[in-house]
Amino acid sequence: MRAVRGLKPRWHDWLCAATGTRVLLGTMFLLGLWVLKTAAQQPGNSSQAGGESKEKATTESKYPAELVDQGATLFQQRCAFCHGRDAAGGETGPDLTRSRLVASDVDGEKIGAVVRNGRPEKGMPPFDVADEQVAGLAAFIHTQQKNARSRPGGRKGVDASDLQTGNAETGKQYFEGAGGCAKCHSPTGDLAGIANRHQGLELERRMLYPEDAKSRVTVTLGSGKIVTGVLAYLDEFTVGMTDEAGSYHSWRIRDVHYKVDAPVDAHVALFSKYTDADIHNLMAYLQTLR
Ligand code: HEC
Ligand code: HEC
Repeated sequence: MRAVRGLKPRWHDWLCAATGTRVLLGTMFLLGLWVLKTAAQQPGNSSQAGGESKEKATTESKYPAELVDQGATLFQQRCAFCHGRDAAGGETGPDLTRSRLVASDVDGEKIGAVVRNGRPEKGMPPFDVADEQVAGLAAFIHTQQKNARSRPGGRKGVDASDLQTGNAETGKQYFEGAGGCAKCHSPTGDLAGIANRHQGLELERRMLYPEDAKSRVTVTLGSGKIVTGVLAYLDEFTVGMTDEAGSYHSWRIRDVHYKVDAPVDAHVALFSKYTDADIHNLMAYLQTLR
């Protein structure tokens, strides 16, 4: 601040002498003001923001209805089929209205971390969500938790009998049609007997999110030969696979063309399309594959 002020008289002398006009001087002055203003604003801004979020944390969480609605919509699309429409627990996801993590969450900090990182080993996929989306989800979940607390009698549970409410024939149509499942699966091929291998919620969890699924890779060599296998290694220089016979191969990326097919991505992409009914119908259908 002082430096700029100290310079002013010298500019003044120089400008007046050199141009004889005050226009430039005015411009320089405004520029100086702008510099001062920005410099003064920087620390002010951040301390203001800090103060704001502290205030929010200490006052009882009350979210604008609009934010809650946005969160509710997103929750129905991405989360409800695991955590239930009301967040009170679904077939494969826990009751969030009783979650201690939710209770101790402030403005979506913890909820956002779970949503973004997922807990893949436990059946919760990661989601790529913007800050506003996290804010909406948190607003909705907190509101549901508050409502659930004030409602006596606790939650309505989801039990295995809910899995039996679907229609197998409708599920089959969805599998072959709108669901696009038949593009990758066959009831007489890979999914033959699936209902013997996995039952109930375990089957549903696998259908929704095959977290242990391996990505496949197709490599086209310089010679035109095509090799497919399970992706075993990939960085910016090397692609490696385990072929059908179980042997490992790798190539320099610049020598080949390759295409990775990550099945989990395809399943995650389906999340926003499923309705509860679709899932129950699919489950009913899969349970006929014995
Ligand atoms: C495919 C099923 C599935 C989907 C979809 C899903 N979750 Fe989860 N979620 C889970 C499971 C399973 C857990 C429990 C993981 C564990 O046991 O640690 C979980 C845990 C959580 C937790 C932590 C609860 C706690 O007390 O630790 C939060 C918060 C959560 N999910 C929010 C969400 C939100 C928000 C969405 C949507 C953007 C979502 N989940 C989508 C299955 C799912
Ligand atoms: C783009 C391909 C693709 C699409 C589309 C797809 N899946 Fe999958 N799915 C896979 C792959 C790959 C796996 C992992 C297979 C494995 O781990 O053995 C998998 C796993 C599964 C599993 C678990 C199988 C097991 O043995 O554990 C089920 C069930 C399943 N999918 C059902 C479905 C249904 C139902 C749909 C349609 C709503 C669907 N999938 C859509 C590729 C796909």
